[in-house]
Amino acid sequence: MQDTLQLTIHKAPHSRIKELDYNNIKFARQYSDHMLLADYKGGEWKNLRIEPYGNISLSPANPAIHYGQSIFEGLKAYKHDDGKISIFRPQANFERMNISAERMVMPAIPEEIFMDGMRELLKVDSQWVPNVEGTALYIRPFMFAIDEFIGVRPSDDFTFMIITSPVGAYYAKPVKVRVETHYTRAVKGGTGYAKTAGNYAASLYPAKLAHKDGYDQLIWTDGQEHKYVEESGTMNIMFVIGDTLVTAPTGDTILNGITRDSVLTLARDWGMNVEVRPLTVDELIDAAKTGKLKEAFGAGTAATIAHVDTIAHEGIDYKLDQSGWEFSEKVLKALNDIRLGRVEDKFGWNYLI
Ligand code: COI
Repeated sequence: MQDTLQLTIHKAPHSRIKELDYNNIKFARQYSDHMLLADYKGGEWKNLRIEPYGNISLSPANPAIHYGQSIFEGLKAYKHDDGKISIFRPQANFERMNISAERMVMPAIPEEIFMDGMRELLKVDSQWVPNVEGTALYIRPFMFAIDEFIGVRPSDDFTFMIITSPVGAYYAKPVKVRVETHYTRAVKGGTGYAKTAGNYAASLYPAKLAHKDGYDQLIWTDGQEHKYVEESGTMNIMFVIGDTLVTAPTGDTILNGITRDSVLTLARDWGMNVEVRPLTVDELIDAAKTGKLKEAFGAGTAATIAHVDTIAHEGIDYKLDQSGWEFSEKVLKALNDIRLGRVEDKFGWNYLI
């Protein structure tokens, strides 16, 4: 690490940990005592620091606010039964963040800042990692433009930050999803594969329309023909059709989800049939009608596995039989056991701090 990247730590005078009710943790309603920051100025990263969590000051001409030059990641830390803390697959998030950075004309984050900074932040706030079943510490690294300039061009300077938050379940119950055949999350040549603010902003209005009709989320379809299944809400979506796990290939329009990859890896390891291939809405609905669709679930960091209760298409609700949730239950348990250090971590996914 260069001299300028020496980490300085300025501790909060008092911890707010007593405000956390470990037995009633919602999703991201409270934030830990500290945050990590680094500045990208004059073409180099500098001023890596941990400070008390709090508001930051920005120019009103900030381009991230006006034009969305902003990216983020999401990952989780777990407390094992013996008190050890591990982060699940952070190297994968580090690599993906730099893929997003390239697409959004932002500088690459050095590994020392992302990985070492995250580890030091978690050490400082280790008591914020909850150990109640079904909870974790959500880690949110993000980077945004900070030039004071409202012309449309890539910013020169950026801030990288990490904040963390104790979290419980993202969805309180299995989700009802509607196949979206008008609005689009991502298009070929667009930014769908990047974890960038605008993708999420663009999803809010269609999701709000679905909520109004009683659905929790959407199944996004391709932007050209609305013929192929892509993602669901903020997650990848996976299906068990017959005895085969089926999910769409990642690419321009589909985020390379780390939970998705973990599910595929486990399924293959268990000898299950796995097909990563384009899946048409017609095939999905036909499988739902004929009972071949055994399971449907979203896979993402926040929710881990979100069981799909109902899929709606062209005004018809197809309710899935909950007794079919064999694979998704098994994979959810396996992921939990690995993350909590209860079984062998055979793929080396846990990063101990
Ligand atoms: C995830 O589950 O990976 C997410 O990105 C969800 C987040 C936007 C809350």
